[in-house]
Amino acid sequence: MEIKNHKWSEKRLLKERQEVLKQWPTGAQIADLDEAIEYHKSIPKEHNAAFVLTKAKKDGKTLIQPRGGVNIVDDHIQLLKTLAKEGGADLLPTTIDSYTRNARFEEAQRAIEKGMQKGNGSILNGLPAVNVGVSEIRKIKEQTNAPLVGRTCAPYPRLLSDILLAGGYTSMEGGGITCLIPYTKTDSLEMSIERWQYVSRLMRYYDDHGGIKLHRESYGPCTGVLIPPCITLAISIIECILDCEQGISHYSLGYGMGGNITQDIVAIKVMEDVCREFLEMKGYKNIELTTYFHQYMGAFPKDEEKALSLIMLGATIGALSNATAIITKSTHEAHGIPTAANNAQGCRVTRNIINMLNGEKFEGSDKMKQEESMLKKATTALLDRVFEIGDGDVAIGTVRAFKAGILDMPFSPSNYNRNLLLSHKDLGGAIRISNPGNVPIPKEVMLYETKKIEERAEIQNIQPGYKMLLEDILAFAGRND
Ligand code: 5AD
Repeated sequence: MEIKNHKWSEKRLLKERQEVLKQWPTGAQIADLDEAIEYHKSIPKEHNAAFVLTKAKKDGKTLIQPRGGVNIVDDHIQLLKTLAKEGGADLLPTTIDSYTRNARFEEAQRAIEKGMQKGNGSILNGLPAVNVGVSEIRKIKEQTNAPLVGRTCAPYPRLLSDILLAGGYTSMEGGGITCLIPYTKTDSLEMSIERWQYVSRLMRYYDDHGGIKLHRESYGPCTGVLIPPCITLAISIIECILDCEQGISHYSLGYGMGGNITQDIVAIKVMEDVCREFLEMKGYKNIELTTYFHQYMGAFPKDEEKALSLIMLGATIGALSNATAIITKSTHEAHGIPTAANNAQGCRVTRNIINMLNGEKFEGSDKMKQEESMLKKATTALLDRVFEIGDGDVAIGTVRAFKAGILDMPFSPSNYNRNLLLSHKDLGGAIRISNPGNVPIPKEVMLYETKKIEERAEIQNIQPGYKMLLEDILAFAGRND
């Protein structure tokens, strides 16, 4: 069956849900969707991500959200309390472990049991939400005081989302493209898009039957390595359209910091502008759009001061870009999963910078206008081509576009990605396309990009290629750390 961008009937959702709930015994606990909807009705609006993000956007505020997830529920509750109290996080995360992201629940169970035996909870790299079941997830909800966001990064999100939503979570991060192409090698893109359609259609059910507004967020940064902004933007906008078709009304587009202040600020603006244009053009009305800016997602320095500086640069760019929320990093990034205290420090530093900048805007220079015009042209060209090759259907278009290399994500391990596009940094650290492969970048934009790389090649006496790439990847981490 070819995937289509078409809203699922309720019948299809509920039929598929019966199969989904059988994936693990805890699925039986959430068979009654009406009960889950009633549970949501008891959640105050201040704990609803859709409400909190929409309000922040209206008030011109930038919120902060760290990542974080540990193995044992009680430890996770402590972590979230620390992030809220010491970090001042506005939205609270639950990062999910890799087994659960891939619906490998038996392996997650074995890991949990092994951890128990050793008396050491956190041997998984996140919370195994499916294995712990809905009553434990509700404990998290009941002992915290902010909206809970499932940070899933899951190519297999269905039972996971079902359980988190029934447990009182009001936002799911992820998407059929952004949770697959950067993470897996052989899993099918079509099936991944379909699994995420299920999640968004399920969220719509909560709205239809209880007026519960739930929020979806695209995982913008992709592989986090030298992704040209037009690629991130096009993919995030496609995921938004796919989710709006299933009935989502509150959506955050995501973008990962590249490191050049002009390019990053422009990207947040163009992402929202072009998305609004496409939503309007394709007939999706009354969508509350917000934006997430991710602090640097590439290789981090091990050195604490360098790491903190990079976090501060991310906070500065995120605040100046007027993103609705910033996803923070910690100085432990290069070493592994951060402690709660260290994670909270990343939040505090980010908050300080947001406060110091006090709503300052960074706009209007000729350089920015030129950058904006180029990015808009490239992003629009990509999206137009995806719709065209899909005969007007963005889901079909996405699958065909990846196959043809029209959408192409650098450093992806996926067999569904062509890996023909090459990118480098320019003198100012902006990410530029040196070879578009089959991505239909307009001629005018390619001339602009090529000129920027040539300027660097001449001044630094270095040619695009392996050595330059190594420098680009390690730009912030340093080679000798
Ligand atoms: N706790 C905190 N942060 C995490 N990350 C991944 N798993 C966890 C976790 N359990 C963060 C790291 C990583 C990014 C993708 O998510 O910063 O680089």
